[in-house]
Amino acid sequence: MEKQDRFYRDTWVEVDLDSISANVTAVKNHLPRNVDIIAVVKANAYGHGDVQVARAALEAGAVYLAVAFMDEAIALRKKGITAPILVLGASRPEDAGTAASLDITLTIFQKTWLERAQECFSKDARLRVHLKVDTGMGRIGVRSLEELTEIEQLLQQDQRFIFEGIFTHFATADELDTSYFQQQFTAFKEMVDGLSCKPKYVHCSNSAAAIRFKEAAFNAVRLGIAMYGLSPSLEMEREIPFPLHEAFSLKTRVVHVKKLHKGDKVSYGATYESCGEEWIGTLPIGYADGWIRRLSGQEVLVGGVRVPIVGRICMDQCMVRLPEYVPIGTEVTLIGKQKGRNISINEIAAKLETINYEVPCIIASRVPRIYKRKGKTIDIKNYLI
Ligand SMILES: Cc1ncc(COP(=O)(O)O)c(C=O)c1O
Repeated sequence: MEKQDRFYRDTWVEVDLDSISANVTAVKNHLPRNVDIIAVVKANAYGHGDVQVARAALEAGAVYLAVAFMDEAIALRKKGITAPILVLGASRPEDAGTAASLDITLTIFQKTWLERAQECFSKDARLRVHLKVDTGMGRIGVRSLEELTEIEQLLQQDQRFIFEGIFTHFATADELDTSYFQQQFTAFKEMVDGLSCKPKYVHCSNSAAAIRFKEAAFNAVRLGIAMYGLSPSLEMEREIPFPLHEAFSLKTRVVHVKKLHKGDKVSYGATYESCGEEWIGTLPIGYADGWIRRLSGQEVLVGGVRVPIVGRICMDQCMVRLPEYVPIGTEVTLIGKQKGRNISINEIAAKLETINYEVPCIIASRVPRIYKRKGKTIDIKNYLI
């Protein structure tokens, strides 16, 4: 896709990079000094914009980035990011040479994978690897000391591998009942103790664990959702000892306003019928933008007032019932603050019966992201790089 200098539609996401920086700093200050921050910027930084968030996080003190797939790591390298990047998910052994050449760190958890990678590697390749341990998430990772030892021995015998880290991932760190978390933590400690030589990074905490269990941090945490200013779960919201700042807002502008009369209908299926004289505004955002049909009835902010979406949400447009006439071009906030009122990501998640993580991720890439520092737009070009 070509780089685009300007946008020709009035719907956009605003990402406040000061909030990202403040959240990274707050978590860093909360943790012991020796604990490094690995900023999790997978899935286009949870929909916020990978390179911009990566830069903000690194400037605020993160030392490592993490993504889900090699493609995401390569995209960051192409955008000029030179910081270390860990691929958290599975990669193909045939691609180990490419990862090594770009200094991308891969997650490993199978001896057969390493053997296959050895066949594909050149003599002088150097690949950083972090060993994933499955302590109860049931996704990827070694599950026994035998597997761990076999892999460690293989890594020691081949200097093309740099055994840089070991990690696990918690399934319930955001739940008030900590028993399963404790079980996983103990299992991870046993695995780490089973190594003959500890690698540079030992990490297990996601945002929830980093905030709630400082003592579990070893020497790095993988910070995702809290960096974006969101609580890992509703239950632990009250346990967060410092404010988090939501970075993501979704905005649009009224493109058409009309007065309906009693009985007039709105949108597909003609499901909405005007009760009397009503002002209806049209917004240029729809389900192809991730503003999905289930959000019909959701309120948005117009002039600091909550107004409902009426009728079915179309692919590219939806309609709102206004208390009065508003001029074409009036700004509308679908997520975020306007004149002292707020529509949080959690509110949208509740309406969609999902978790807050999902909301910024589903706002489509065709919605431009713009970036703010000190309230000013700093970068509207990079979202399509
Ligand atoms: C392996 C791994 N580590 C860390 C994270 C970050 O988690 P959170 O966003 O809850 O901080 C994720 C996110 O899904 C993950 O999959």
